[in-house]
Amino acid sequence: METFEVVKESSLTYQLPSPRKEGGFSVEEAMAQRRSHRHFVDKALDASDVAQVLWSAYGITKASSHKQLRGGFRTAPSAGALYPLELYLLVGNVNDIEPGVYRYLAGEHQIERIIDEDVKLELSAAALNQKMIYEAPACLFYSALYERTTQKYGTRGAERYVCMDLGHSAQNVYLQVESLHMGTCAIGAFNDEKVRKVMQLPDKETPLYIMPFGYYYNKQEF
Ligand SMILES: Cc1cc2nc3c(=O)[nH]c(=O)nc-3n(C[C@H](O)[C@H](O)[C@H](O)COP(=O)(O)O)c2cc1C
Repeated sequence: METFEVVKESSLTYQLPSPRKEGGFSVEEAMAQRRSHRHFVDKALDASDVAQVLWSAYGITKASSHKQLRGGFRTAPSAGALYPLELYLLVGNVNDIEPGVYRYLAGEHQIERIIDEDVKLELSAAALNQKMIYEAPACLFYSALYERTTQKYGTRGAERYVCMDLGHSAQNVYLQVESLHMGTCAIGAFNDEKVRKVMQLPDKETPLYIMPFGYYYNKQEF
């Protein structure tokens, strides 16, 4: 396994290992087995698996220097290739990565720490006390800069395209997590203002999804 490299001293930044492009788990198996999981085991995650999940969500698959693409084409389609989503990683218990909140820099395949403590408990409180957020060893968080899409597509961009983009990316995460024998759950129910505060979101970003992930145990939901 590749080791992690700290690339900047001032703001803690990790260079993530290159994503794996092959695996022993078919996309059909992942679709057939995918389920939302809400009960996580307190077991540390491998940093390389966490990096793989980030890449599946919004990683670069075709590099480009075109400014609009901010690094290149991604694992998920995007209306007009405008890529309105921003992705964050909340780390609680991941080998080789310090706890905290990180922004995913897709172009560099790096994570940069923006909050130097684990705020999953506070995020859980801001999301109707959904316990799975703090029980999971790690969590993805999506926001969107709507104007990237609305400046070209107007109302249609706001009402349709941004959340369509989100769905494509989040489904990748579900399938990737499944193939790593882990689980996740897409969470859309939360208090926007409280979540903004916990995540210290810039005003222009709209919070959209929280996706805790990790090893899980099954509990009958219905
Ligand atoms: C837009 C959206 C929002 C969701 N929000 C939540 C949520 O806040 N909490 C939760 O426990 N599950 C949430 N879910 C997960 C659904 O409950 C789940 O997908 C559904 O029960 C079907 O189960 P499955 O994903 O296992 O097939 C959400 C799913 C979607 C698509």
